[in-house]
Amino acid sequence: MSILVLGGAGYIGSHAVYQLIDQNDRVVVVDSLETGHCQAVHPDAAYYQGDIRDKQFLDDVFSKENIDAVLHFSANSLVGESMQEPLKYFSNNVYGTQVLLETMKEHNVNRIVFSSTAATYGEPDAVPITEDMPTKPESTYGETKLTMEKMMKWCAIAYGIKYVSLRYFNVAGARKTGEIGEDHQPETHLIPIVLQTALEQRKALTIFGEDYNTEDGTCIRDYIHVEDLIDAHLLALSYLENGGESEIFNLGSNQGFSVKQIIDTARKVTGRSIPAVPGERRPGDPSVLIASADKAKRILGWEPSRTSIEEIIEDAWNWHRNHPHGYDGGVEA
Ligand code: UFG
Repeated sequence: MSILVLGGAGYIGSHAVYQLIDQNDRVVVVDSLETGHCQAVHPDAAYYQGDIRDKQFLDDVFSKENIDAVLHFSANSLVGESMQEPLKYFSNNVYGTQVLLETMKEHNVNRIVFSSTAATYGEPDAVPITEDMPTKPESTYGETKLTMEKMMKWCAIAYGIKYVSLRYFNVAGARKTGEIGEDHQPETHLIPIVLQTALEQRKALTIFGEDYNTEDGTCIRDYIHVEDLIDAHLLALSYLENGGESEIFNLGSNQGFSVKQIIDTARKVTGRSIPAVPGERRPGDPSVLIASADKAKRILGWEPSRTSIEEIIEDAWNWHRNHPHGYDGGVEA
């Protein structure tokens, strides 16, 4: 099996590459390095640097490599930025996926596992969120991911390209063995920001709103360990290989933690004080997002095994402590 991983130098894509290689698959990575890091590419993967909107480039990769299936992590994913620069998101995310699907069709590659998001739902009417609930994205980012899902749906009908779309909730943690982890520039996600504060790279973090309708007033999210997330991708690949129909699955842990609970847990895990100050709400943040991942468990046989929030933060902390400046800063002795 040769698996093409688009975005294999990014946070989630690089974890997929490592876990595929762990199970002896042959992996081809494509990444533009716009947000990825070449240091995150597994040394045993074949690697091509380029943009998926470049049809000639993508054609060359498919011609040279004998691709069986595609894992697609190649997208811009910042909610705030997507509201400032919507066309950047339509171009990279939607048009990029169009070029990819055209190339897959021409090269008779019929299986794709796609990285989608809880942002396709917008503010939910109820939690836990199941896949049959309405999709009402409240950001350009969520809209582009929903559009990409719809493109795949029609390509499945017309060309027989089968897809599994995985709607992620809040992905966190890092590979247990420590080689790779989360390094975004700029960083917007709660857990890395909390850990950067623990490392005193930030004076304090801001809690975006303490007046939500939750027990402690801060937003609740469903955190999932990146290695559990990738396990679901590997199961989705096998599911498609065994003739499974195109499907959409949520990936989360069915449990929620508030911003304050995350900060308190990080204080325990790191033994550091982690100053936090109250601030304004961040526009567009739903108060509570919790997934029902029952469908993925039932149909894919997925069983997340790293569900304790302490373990997720410990693994993230292991990465941040050893790479305080991310990939570019090298490893601290
Ligand atoms: N938060 C803070 N302070 C910070 C950063 C975050 O209080 O400095 C809060 C946010 O307001 C939110 C929670 O921490 O309540 C989690 O925020 P993240 O930015 O880590 O994650 P989001 O839930 O906003 O975003 C995630 C994914 C997105 C996806 C979105 C779907 O990272 O890709 O869920 O709603 F689009």
